[in-house]
Order: sequence, then structure tokens, then C-alpha cells
Amino acid sequence: MSNQTSNAVMSTYGRFPISIVEGKGSYVWDDKGTKYLDYVSGLATCNLGHVPDAVEEAVQAQLSKLWHCTNLYHIPTQEQLAEKLAQHSCGDQVFFCNSGAEANEAAIKIAKKYGHDVLKQDNPLIVTFQNSFHGRTMATLTATGQEKIQQGFAPLTPGFTYLSYNDNHALSQLQELSPVAVMLELVQGEGGVIPVEKEWIQQLEAICQEQGILLMVDEIQTGMGRTGKLFAYEHYQIEPDVITIAKGLGSGLPIGAMIAKEEVAKVFSPGTHGSTFGGNPVSTTAGLATIDQLTTPGVLEHAQEMADLIWQGLEQLAAEKEEIKSVRGKGLLIGLEVTGAAIDYVNKAREEEQLLIVVAGPHIVRILPPLTTTKAEAEQFLEKINHIFQ
Ligand SMILES: Cc1ncc(COP(=O)(O)O)c(C=O)c1O
Repeated sequence: MSNQTSNAVMSTYGRFPISIVEGKGSYVWDDKGTKYLDYVSGLATCNLGHVPDAVEEAVQAQLSKLWHCTNLYHIPTQEQLAEKLAQHSCGDQVFFCNSGAEANEAAIKIAKKYGHDVLKQDNPLIVTFQNSFHGRTMATLTATGQEKIQQGFAPLTPGFTYLSYNDNHALSQLQELSPVAVMLELVQGEGGVIPVEKEWIQQLEAICQEQGILLMVDEIQTGMGRTGKLFAYEHYQIEPDVITIAKGLGSGLPIGAMIAKEEVAKVFSPGTHGSTFGGNPVSTTAGLATIDQLTTPGVLEHAQEMADLIWQGLEQLAAEKEEIKSVRGKGLLIGLEVTGAAIDYVNKAREEEQLLIVVAGPHIVRILPPLTTTKAEAEQFLEKINHIFQ
């Protein structure tokens, strides 16, 4: 029985009717041998394309040395990756885990601990934003400002409140609330590919600095080069106190991380947080090879060039087609706002053009090319998307 029809997997996903069995670069193949141009990239995870050579080589070598080691001992690849992440971000210290939700859980825990230990608050409050997405665990689905994701899971985790994204009124509300932390995405990904407004995020940062509120950016979807910079916060000249990443960090192997400034990081001490697999030798080896690739001169510049080419083509298409209301996002995290049902375009793309794209809400088609996609592939994509909107 093919995986796609197995009844043994819990039904937490609505799945498309194909089984992907192989991938290389910007392409994947299904179990029938059909080749697809993959502009989903494992939902912003395979940022270097599928099975990138440098990461594969490093992981293969690590696999014949050591697979797992408890965090009760030093793990050299973990320490090296932490150094690299600190070197390339405004943070100082890193906690490793296995997924995005876990990275946000770590951020939520460190913020609460900072509230108790440093600010001497009894009930530290965390502000998040309407329409956000921060994960599916109890604390992160509570942080997520979408009722549909919280429905059926009450009682939720206490200590969260939600404000309106890109809204000036939210800035004055923030001042009144005096929370310990604000957590937000710089492009709301799952919520419909909505980029933050530069002036607004800069004002928000200024309030955080004035009032001693921690600024925590969830870069799980926007990080690792997805928006054309290693971290999306670099576009806005802001300096978050906490950054969470996952998805693209391991090029497809499971790894998450919470990066914090030293002042915040120091509230964690032995026994306050942990994870058996967090910072595992294999996943941190993948992370090291990935970050080495992403910081190689020319790689992010190429991603930005491909983004420019794709945006130009999509904007031209949007100008011609009434059914496309807007093109939005940042870099290679792109949303097409359509008047009809986004899922119909996604299905047409897969069935008729062997092009994989996804939705981000009922009227948003989401396009997530690998950062390594070539000019020829980007042109092929534009041809395919033009056919879909014929
Ligand atoms: C912004 C953001 N935060 C958190 C998560 C949760 O990550 P994970 O599915 O690895 O737990 C996601 C996943 O899509 C995300 O896009």
C-alpha cells in the first residue's frame, strides 16, 4: 500500500494525492517516476534544494562516526554551530532543539524566566499578534493569534495577549501592557504571507528598548536566507533579543534553535531547560554545512537575484490578470493574493504543470523556491505559472 492511502498515519494533515520518494536540487520525483519542479521546498526547509552535496557529504561522514550523544557531554559540532550562529547574528548564546515549535517553547520559557528572575514579575505577559503562527504545542498554539488553530484545545496556556499586526494603535496598547516580551514573525507566513512594515517594526523596537521589553523574532520560516538575508531582521536595522530558527537550519534534517543575547541567555542554568536530541551530532553537522553554504559569498546574492526575476515575472502576470490581486512577501517567501480559491491553482499547477506550490490561507498561493534555484528553473516556473493563469 502506498503511504498516501495508509490508514495507520494519524489524520493531522490534508495531503495531496502524490508520494514523494526522491529529490535533488529544485526537483522531486513521486513513486510513479513523475518529476516535479518543487517550489515548496519542504515548506521553506530545503533552502539549499534537496540533498545538497556539501551537506550530504558532511552528514555521511558524521554518520560513520557518531549518531547521538547525551547533552551531559560536550558535543563539538553543537559548539561550532552555536559559535557560527552567534557570529552571524546579533545573539550571543544558542539553545538547540528539534523543531520550530520547540524553539518557540524555549523562547517563551526564557522570557517567563527573565520576567520572574530579572524583572521580579509574578505573572509575566507575552504579547503576540493576530494572524501569527508560532507552532502546534500547547504554549505555541496559544501564542499563535488564530482562533482556528486554538479551537478545541482549551484550556490554553495563560500569559499571552494578542495585538494587531502592522497597526499603530497596537504600539500604544503595547506601552500600556508592559509585557515581558513581544514575539512576532517579520513576514507572517502561515497567516497569509504578510510582511511587516519597516517603520512599524522600528517603532515597536524603540518601545521595547525604552520599556525593557524583550523583542523576540520568530524566524522559523523567514530565517536561513529565505528573504534574501541570513535573518529577516537584518532588512529592518533592528536587533532582537531572541531569535528562533528551525526549518532551513538543517537543510531538511530536524533541528531548531533559540538564539539569545547574553543578558537574556544567562537566566537559563543547568536543569532549567533541555532536550535529549537537541544539538545532536548529526543534525548540528547538517546545520554547520548549511550555514557554511549560506554564508559563502554569492549564495544569498544569487537568491536575491532569483527573487528579483521571479517577482518581476509575477508582478507582470498580476498586471495582466484580474484574478491576481497582489504579489507580496519578501525575497523567496512569496504570496500571490488571488480572487478565487488558492487551492484550485495549487492543484492545477501540480496536475497540469508538474509544479509544486502551496496555499497560505484560502486566497493566497504561497511560492517557496529553493535559494539555489537556477535562472533557467525560475524562467520555467514563470512559464508554468503563466499557463496556470491562462
Ligand atoms: C513562523 C513559524 N513558527 C513556528 C513554526 C512551527 O515549526 P515546526 O513545524 O517545526 O514546529 C512554523 C512552521 O510552519 C512557522 O512557520
